[in-house]
Amino acid sequence: MRHLISVTTLTPSDVEALLERAEYRLAHPNGQTLAQKVVANLFFEPSTRTRFSFEMAIKRLGGETLNFQPSTSSINKGESLEDTIRTIEAMGVDAMVIRHGENGIMHRLTKFVKVPIINAGEGTNEHPTQCLLDVFTIKQAFGRLSGLQVAIIGDVLHSRVAGSHFNLLPRLGMEILLSGPFAWMPKQVPPGVCIVTMEEALKADVVMMLRVQKERMNAIEIPDFKAYRQMFGLTVNRARLLKPHAIIMHPSPVNRGVEIDSEVVEHPQSVIFRQVTNGVAVRMAVLEELIQERRPDRLWVTASAQ
Ligand code: CP
Repeated sequence: MRHLISVTTLTPSDVEALLERAEYRLAHPNGQTLAQKVVANLFFEPSTRTRFSFEMAIKRLGGETLNFQPSTSSINKGESLEDTIRTIEAMGVDAMVIRHGENGIMHRLTKFVKVPIINAGEGTNEHPTQCLLDVFTIKQAFGRLSGLQVAIIGDVLHSRVAGSHFNLLPRLGMEILLSGPFAWMPKQVPPGVCIVTMEEALKADVVMMLRVQKERMNAIEIPDFKAYRQMFGLTVNRARLLKPHAIIMHPSPVNRGVEIDSEVVEHPQSVIFRQVTNGVAVRMAVLEELIQERRPDRLWVTASAQ
């Protein structure tokens, strides 16, 4: 019984193996390792990148997808999430890719789902495959991970991407700097992470901007976007302060003109669309590891042990 629910179950050597596999898949994007396998994509929240990049990855590997639409499903007739998931599993799917807004839901599902579950974004907890594709993109840019400073700027509090980064990046030798409104900083700063000014954050090797996630805020928490941009946005002027070797990242979707200026999205140091391309290769690697290769020596995805 193996899933990818959290990066906490990945050791550095697991990550290295996955990144190597993803590199192979970037160069060899077609295969048949998922031939005759069916993966259900169950997205209970909106998504463009994650959903389509999983679908792309599955199809590139010769597999089939079932795409679940909550709005037209029997959830609307009162069926519980658990019964919906059990129903889809009972049809014989080989894995499930799930996005859901409730923290802790994935672990609950692993108690009874026997096929692999891949967390495609859970509440404000974690987004493991986004974390892996970010790590892959950083390694691609620098040829290494250890010793790099990664500044994560903006709405950290509501970010599931940051949730995964806090665990994995320090274990891979990276230092995390946080900057943004105080109210959006974590209540407890995790080990290997420190809060700095914007000026300090812009000196990092990696400058990762986060979206203002207004869908996770009360009306009074939503800032004035113009004021926010002036204080914490990666504007054209601030981008001039970046180190020449630094890269600009954003998990996307991007609010152009809020946390990052439109011109900066297109900046020569921006790898934002490269992140999307890499996401397909990284998800191919994860799918192959979970579905195709059921090797007993690869136990890094044993979420059920938690
Ligand atoms: N980065 C990310 O999760 O994007 P989507 O919400 O479009 O999947």
